[in-house]
Amino acid sequence: MTQLRCNKSASYTDLNTIYAQCSGPGGLHLAEFMADKMGMEAGKRLLDVGCNRGYQTCFLAREYGVQAMGIDPWADRMEGDPMVDHLRRNAEAWGVSHLVLGQKIGVPDTHFAAGSFDFVYSTTALEMIRMLEGEEGYLACLKELWRVLKPGGVMGIGEPMHRDIPVPPDLMPHVSQSDFPWKDCFRDIHQTVDAIRQAGFEIIEADYAPEAHKWWMEYAEHDPFCKLDPEGDPKTLTVDDGRWVSFGYVIARRP
Ligand SMILES: C[S@@+](CC[C@H](N)C(=O)[O-])C[C@H]1O[C@@H](n2cnc3c(N)ncnc32)[C@H](O)[C@@H]1O
Repeated sequence: MTQLRCNKSASYTDLNTIYAQCSGPGGLHLAEFMADKMGMEAGKRLLDVGCNRGYQTCFLAREYGVQAMGIDPWADRMEGDPMVDHLRRNAEAWGVSHLVLGQKIGVPDTHFAAGSFDFVYSTTALEMIRMLEGEEGYLACLKELWRVLKPGGVMGIGEPMHRDIPVPPDLMPHVSQSDFPWKDCFRDIHQTVDAIRQAGFEIIEADYAPEAHKWWMEYAEHDPFCKLDPEGDPKTLTVDDGRWVSFGYVIARRP
């Protein structure tokens, strides 16, 4: 297994801000974990799919020197601004405007030219599309990511996933949420790898992240929506106690 550097994100210590600007478990630790696994290098072109407010995008631009394109089709749930407006403001605040661009678009209809990017990165985004568009829709997104990567380019997908066990009965009511029920969004690592292979990728590495439980508990404590609704995701994660909920990653190459 690759030796992780895991020190770039250590100086970003304000977890309340990080979890308010990111959406999902892991924050900047996740971005660093993925970037190191993907071998991100300065000057290369990166596509961040479902960049949300672009905090991870800006982190990758500042810490790895990549030229980053963040895409996100939605508006922010709190303030109603397009996510890419937040991305632009964050890029200015981080001093990386020269490295970061944003487009209010989503997969699978990106309209980028084939082979535009050296790296494609997406965290906590595609599992929602699977719920909304089904397995066919998920596959269509993966095929689009394959298309926009250069041959030899590397994709890193980090997703909320479940461990390879059935939902424990006491957890079932908690993962049957009305919006984005986790039992319908999440897959295990094997199912995710199968879909990524089916889209034409060659798998470099795939596993559950060793820090998955820690990242989820940080999310439960620091995410603003979790703070507003402790009986929601924080309760689910407490009941689960690391049995079913995890976070998986797949690093794959376009041959
Ligand atoms: C939970 S957020 C994750 C954000 C960020 N990657 C992170 O980990 O903090 C998922 C994002 O995916 C975006 N999204 C939804 N549909 C999408 C699509 N079809 N293509 C790309 N992004 C999409 C949403 O707008 C949302 O901002």
